Amino acid sequence: MSRSGQLDDERASWSAVTRLVHAGDSDEARLGFAARSVNPPVQRASTVVLPDAASLYGNDHPTYGRAGLGVQASLEAALCELEGAVAAKLFSSGAAAITAALMTVLSAGDDVLVSAGAYAPTRRFCDGMLARFGVRTRYFAPSASSAEVLAMIDGRTRAIFLESPASLTFELQDVPAIAAGARARSVLTLIDNTWGAGVLFRPLEHGVDLSIQALTKYASGGSDVFMGSVAVRDPKLGERLLQTVWDTGWAVSPDDCYTVLRSLRTLPLRLARHGASALEVAQWLAVQPEVAQMLCPALPGSPHHALWTRDFTGTNGLFGLVLKPGPPRGADAFLDALQLFMLGFSWGGFESLAVSGDPQVRNPSRGWRADGALMRLHVGLEAPQDLIGDLRRGLDAFTAACHQA
Ligand SMILES: Cc1ncc(COP(=O)(O)O)c(C=O)c1O
Repeated sequence: MSRSGQLDDERASWSAVTRLVHAGDSDEARLGFAARSVNPPVQRASTVVLPDAASLYGNDHPTYGRAGLGVQASLEAALCELEGAVAAKLFSSGAAAITAALMTVLSAGDDVLVSAGAYAPTRRFCDGMLARFGVRTRYFAPSASSAEVLAMIDGRTRAIFLESPASLTFELQDVPAIAAGARARSVLTLIDNTWGAGVLFRPLEHGVDLSIQALTKYASGGSDVFMGSVAVRDPKLGERLLQTVWDTGWAVSPDDCYTVLRSLRTLPLRLARHGASALEVAQWLAVQPEVAQMLCPALPGSPHHALWTRDFTGTNGLFGLVLKPGPPRGADAFLDALQLFMLGFSWGGFESLAVSGDPQVRNPSRGWRADGALMRLHVGLEAPQDLIGDLRRGLDAFTAACHQA
């Protein structure tokens, strides 16, 4: 008789308190009843119970909940599908996925080349934590050519970290050329692919070794959950990633995984709508007299449009713009007049958001120069004509502030 069968027979002899502690725990309750739901059951478990003593130290089944159970495995499988990967691992935020990927491939004494256009916390981790652990970071401009990036490789270089388009300023890199050149020199490439989201750009198919996403953004789409992923094609890299998960003790909640998996099903549909609306809004902005420059690779004539057309299958809701030079108060007047666009730092959700970007792009290696204020917009799922009306209100406020100055 199975362990749980024996327990069932004994239940009647237990005291009330023991019966309460074990009330409702049967194999059926743990594993799901015969009725099959469309979605995976959410197993909220730190403890995993094993059927017999021999299974306690087995390697072919979960023995503890920290690395994830059913719903985590379902989400990882879905991400493998999305990214064309053989293994994907989950992390508690996009930032955690970035740091985990870097820690997986770097050791003391190594050198890493990083795009100066990478998300600011990525660079902070490199300059702080990685430096403390003896890893040297050198930056290249986000618009550097593949030849310029590859020429920086020296005897210590183990990895190149890309982000394309760059955070806030949206320069593109020639990812396939950098990945191929790096591979020829036994250097690994990593990319923060949050913008491409695995739908608009599939880095592993372009030769990149580790594709990282902040699932917090488009994959989740609800602005209510943090999660990150790292996907790889090389099974050995997958094993190294899993080892990082175990060694660092990172865990991801099954409820959050369920939320992200639920949203992932509609990711391509949402991205198509975000992209179409963003293009309409960006085309309108491009011809407004208050706008000096658009930072939107999908716009014909914009810098790096040719690379975007070659490598990407579409655009999303996130782009930037530079206002004409104005008084310091002008940029704030623009933002403060917006009503549909809320002011907030994230993106990828259903809602439209705006932020000013200048305080984040002052690092000298970035080479960013513009006379006017840098703005980042996220075009949500609202109707584009309503968003255009809101932006007109913001631009009018900017003009009024310029006249007052
Ligand atoms: C490009 C990019 N990568 C990574 C992250 C980090 O994601 P998370 O907030 O989930 O840590 C962000 C967040 O804004 C981001 O914009």
